[in-house]
Amino acid sequence: MAKTQFMTLARHIIEGEKRHPEATGELSRLLSDLSLAAKIISLEVNKAGLVDILGFTGNNNIHGEQVKKLDMFAHDTLIKAMDHGGHFCAMVSEEEEDIIHIPAKHKIGKYVLLFDPLDGSSNIDVNISIGTIFSIYKRITPEGQPGTLEDCLQQGVNQIAAGYIVYGSSTILVYTTGEGVHGFTLDPSFGEFLLSHDDIKIPKKSHFYSINEGNYLYWHPGLKKYIKYLQEEDEATERPYSARYVGSMVADIHRNLLYGGIYMYPADNHHPNGKLRLMYECNPMSFIVEAAGGRASNGKQRIMEIQPESLHENTPLFIGSEEDVKMVEEFMANDHC
Ligand code: AHG
Ligand code: MN
Ligand code: MN
Repeated sequence: MAKTQFMTLARHIIEGEKRHPEATGELSRLLSDLSLAAKIISLEVNKAGLVDILGFTGNNNIHGEQVKKLDMFAHDTLIKAMDHGGHFCAMVSEEEEDIIHIPAKHKIGKYVLLFDPLDGSSNIDVNISIGTIFSIYKRITPEGQPGTLEDCLQQGVNQIAAGYIVYGSSTILVYTTGEGVHGFTLDPSFGEFLLSHDDIKIPKKSHFYSINEGNYLYWHPGLKKYIKYLQEEDEATERPYSARYVGSMVADIHRNLLYGGIYMYPADNHHPNGKLRLMYECNPMSFIVEAAGGRASNGKQRIMEIQPESLHENTPLFIGSEEDVKMVEEFMANDHC
């Protein structure tokens, strides 16, 4: 049945701030600037098959991976949308090695923005969901000066907001400020994000798992046993689990957030610290999943309590329905060989 009223993203954020008398309205303005970038990227993603945007730029990013044009388009769009609002003192992107400073002509703000401009970029050419992930902190160094590494390298527990956008069968923006997780679907005809998923809660236990099983040979023995356990038949515990793996982490986790599930990118013999990046992939997704009642760890430690040492460091990730994440942690703790 159609909703009796429309809740736009902008209105939702303002109403959230109203519940906090100390709020200045800055977070509303900042998230609304971000949603403009999301709309522009969404438009470009939808045109990807039509214009001469596919193929590689010929450049490698700092991780030695080939960068596609759309990654750089998303990176540039986010910077263009966010560097002049007076909100930020520094930004960090997967596509740039160093801190991105705010140009001298613009006001320096009190927040830090970290982002993965386009996640799942190997799926661009094949019409499979991709996304953008962002994470926001309050700076810890004094205001008025350019932001420093210290401002950027905070533990995930200090995040004040995080979100992602999935460019899929429709475009959805999901965000949290730590109090509830909300999803807004973009109406492409009038360009407005409308509340479609209010107060998302992830099921405590699921029967779905998401992992790149092609890496099985290289896994920790406890993880091998856990995946075999999920594949055994047992009605009482809803096994066997079903596997779902898109290859765009943001899309995989979005599905698990709505239906329940566990997503894993473990350490293995080829990826000693896993593959995903702590600061702009794992921390924001962990903040969102925990705010929805789920759990996120590196197998031993809560992701958001890891003390980061560098902007682009990797971490193993186990994230999703609480009971499932606890179980994989137990399997790995009980099997050290
Ligand atoms: P990105 O496109 O930002 O570089 O991220 C790719 C990541 C993540 O999105 C995805 O889940 C994972 O890489 C897939 O890795 P595998 O192909 O090794 O499974
Ligand atoms: Mn990514
Ligand atoms: Mn990326």
